Amino acid sequence: MSEKRPASTMNYREVRDELAGVMDHAREYMKPKCHACKICNSVTCGAAGGIGGTERRGTAIRNYEKLQQIHLAYDTLYEGGDGSEIDSSIELFGHKFRAPIMSGPFGHVASFNPSTHFKDDYEFTKALLDGTMAAGCFGWTPDTVGEDVFEGPLRCLKEHGGIGIPAIKAWGADEIRMKIRMSDAAGVMAIGHDIDCVGLTYLSVNGKTKTYPKSAAQLKEIFSITKTPYILKGIMTAAGARKSVEAGASAIVISNHGGNTMDQALASIEVLEEIRAAVGDKLTIIIDGGFRHGEDIFKALALGADAVLVGRPYIIAAEGGEARGVELYTQKLVWELQNAMRMTGCRTLADITRDKVIVSKEF
Ligand SMILES: Cc1cc2nc3c(=O)[nH]c(=O)nc-3n(C[C@H](O)[C@H](O)[C@H](O)COP(=O)(O)O)c2cc1C
Repeated sequence: MSEKRPASTMNYREVRDELAGVMDHAREYMKPKCHACKICNSVTCGAAGGIGGTERRGTAIRNYEKLQQIHLAYDTLYEGGDGSEIDSSIELFGHKFRAPIMSGPFGHVASFNPSTHFKDDYEFTKALLDGTMAAGCFGWTPDTVGEDVFEGPLRCLKEHGGIGIPAIKAWGADEIRMKIRMSDAAGVMAIGHDIDCVGLTYLSVNGKTKTYPKSAAQLKEIFSITKTPYILKGIMTAAGARKSVEAGASAIVISNHGGNTMDQALASIEVLEEIRAAVGDKLTIIIDGGFRHGEDIFKALALGADAVLVGRPYIIAAEGGEARGVELYTQKLVWELQNAMRMTGCRTLADITRDKVIVSKEF
């Protein structure tokens, strides 16, 4: 793979064509759980509801569908350049990235995709971190039940200079504190905490493994042992966002875990504007759920998000092309975002304002 050109120097067609081969390859490793569909909208997922979650896909499908009801406003009537002036860069947690895009945490590859070709979660994470970084972005690492599922990916994150975010699940306070200390020892730029994991089948009511919802005061106390910014992942209401401010979080991820934790929820994009209005600039807002293209990322930025986390397509890109597949997919997202900016008269991310999108009546 090393003889390949950096994806960041390739044009859309080149990236798209090489990525098509990656997708073909992914199908071999994803069946029967996932068909690596051209449109990853959770409608035709495979056995037991695809990768992650259950066969009840309502929330996941809604995430994708609601994004399709937002459209971009053309504006190419401005004094512009050849496109190289478009600047999609962002600073997050003290580091500069080419675009506000990150891969999500995905816990225990062998359990959500029994036919994976990755030896373990360290190798899977390495593909994600190598690939996102090669394209100027970054990734999260997971936490779940299983051997070396937190530690292995965290070791990998340390080897990447700590540029990434480990997610810690809602275990008992002592285990969370231990994992915060491990994350700090790895020098990570921020620490994530996926509080909505309590709805995952194996962690939910009557599940074998215990997780616990916690109050803002409890979270504040637990995270008081670190100076590293921390992020609450799994916020879906303005009230939850306000409590996150009280808890001392620096950021939230507006997320329903890709629809894996509860059916019949709203789509994440539906609650974004309300949450931004509720917390103003007190929190950095990341959002995920159904984001598949750079144009989708543009929509989130226009409605108030600072950055976007992408889930399932990154798993498929990694299975199909390891780090190169992840790099190509990230470059495709960056390219699409930058092209959307060029087509709507936006030179920087700050120019992506509410008037740059049209929300349809059905939304
Ligand atoms: C197979 C799978 C495993 C996941 N594991 C985790 C995890 O360990 N921790 C976490 O915070 N989120 C986890 N998630 C949720 C994702 O990080 C992300 O929130 C979600 O996939 C975004 O939705 P999307 O897949 O529609 O892009 C997982 C998602 C999938 C599909």
